[in-house]
Amino acid sequence: MPYNGLYTLDEIDFKGRRVFLRVDYNVPLDDKGNILDDFRIKESLPTIKKIFQKGAVQIIIASHLGRPENKEAIYRMDNIAKKVYLLTGKKTEKVSDCIDLEGVFPTPQQAPIVVLENLRFHEQEEKNDEVFAQKLAKNADIYINDAFGVCHRKHASVHAITKFLPGGIGLLVEKELRIFEGILTNPERPFIAILGGSKLETKLPLIMNMMDKVDNALLGGAMIFTFYKAMDYDIGKSLYDKDYVANAKMLGNNEKIILPVDIVIADDKDNPTNISVMSPKTIPSYMIGLDIGPESIEEFKKILLQAKTVIWNGPLGYYENPKFAKSTNELLKFLANNQSIKTVIGGGDTASAAENLGLRDKFFHTSTGGGASLTLLEGKKMPAMEALKENTLKFKEKGV
Ligand code: 3PG
Repeated sequence: MPYNGLYTLDEIDFKGRRVFLRVDYNVPLDDKGNILDDFRIKESLPTIKKIFQKGAVQIIIASHLGRPENKEAIYRMDNIAKKVYLLTGKKTEKVSDCIDLEGVFPTPQQAPIVVLENLRFHEQEEKNDEVFAQKLAKNADIYINDAFGVCHRKHASVHAITKFLPGGIGLLVEKELRIFEGILTNPERPFIAILGGSKLETKLPLIMNMMDKVDNALLGGAMIFTFYKAMDYDIGKSLYDKDYVANAKMLGNNEKIILPVDIVIADDKDNPTNISVMSPKTIPSYMIGLDIGPESIEEFKKILLQAKTVIWNGPLGYYENPKFAKSTNELLKFLANNQSIKTVIGGGDTASAAENLGLRDKFFHTSTGGGASLTLLEGKKMPAMEALKENTLKFKEKGV
């Protein structure tokens, strides 16, 4: 049975076929282009294995890497291809481009895995260009999207390409969709959200959507100062969104929202000479709020101890500076050590913070997608999945 109108690997006949596999191998790199973290590559391995087990003869792997402006060498896919070879043990050939490879495209016998060059070396990728998408589709019979982290984008390799090949979702996308659907529609309660981030403007759709789903939302990050401003607190030099004070006032009346009772403040976020903890009510005019305080951490822990399900999106302080990462780190460790709580860590900064502590595998789920998981938590549809649903209907009669 298709899952929510999307074919999964189980329903697709791969025998003798060549598969275009869109993955999200947008991995962190050092300044020489070495891979710093291969988590996203490893997460796609079960899909690669299963497609081959079901009889596919070739997998053509396609991904973007970074946000290149001028085909910079560090964004080439060569190191990725080497890593794919190491992890799969299958002969892997990296080709020089992602389109127009007539005459040089390896046959399945020459290379069961082909890694295409960075999709974003062509501006048509982000423009969702159909001619480009058709060229991408050229050497394959089936399209599989296992690129959860890009499903919120309307780009050629996840959207327009679905017009040209029958397809479905890989195991990683299926797992991510099922987990988010599960916690959003039928969570074990109490269900608590931890929501951080710097701008209320960007987090407002998330908070609004979560309000009728969670039992409590614990708030942190610089966005809390817009709430304090709405309560007429003196917030010193702390960041706040002046256009969103009215929204914060309205939301602040919701009893589900829990704001921190103490704040770590400092004179500068990057080079502080003076750090202290105080109530958010009377922050001196020359100080900035940069993390939630120890009393709030303890209060949040007490609430979390009651939880059966937790979703966490966004750091609680300015965690780029370790001096203000304490609440984020301490609560991540706390949840990692409480395995009875089903904790889902949203991708992006929260997942990076968990990874920096070596805790990524200690949670029920750590998402591979930042923007994509945020889109789902906001209750919005993901363009790539909508396109694939149309694809399912279009190709159903022909059978995949
Ligand atoms: C991510 O890392 O979140 C995805 O790969 C999407 O990347 P993008 O934000 O550059 O589109």
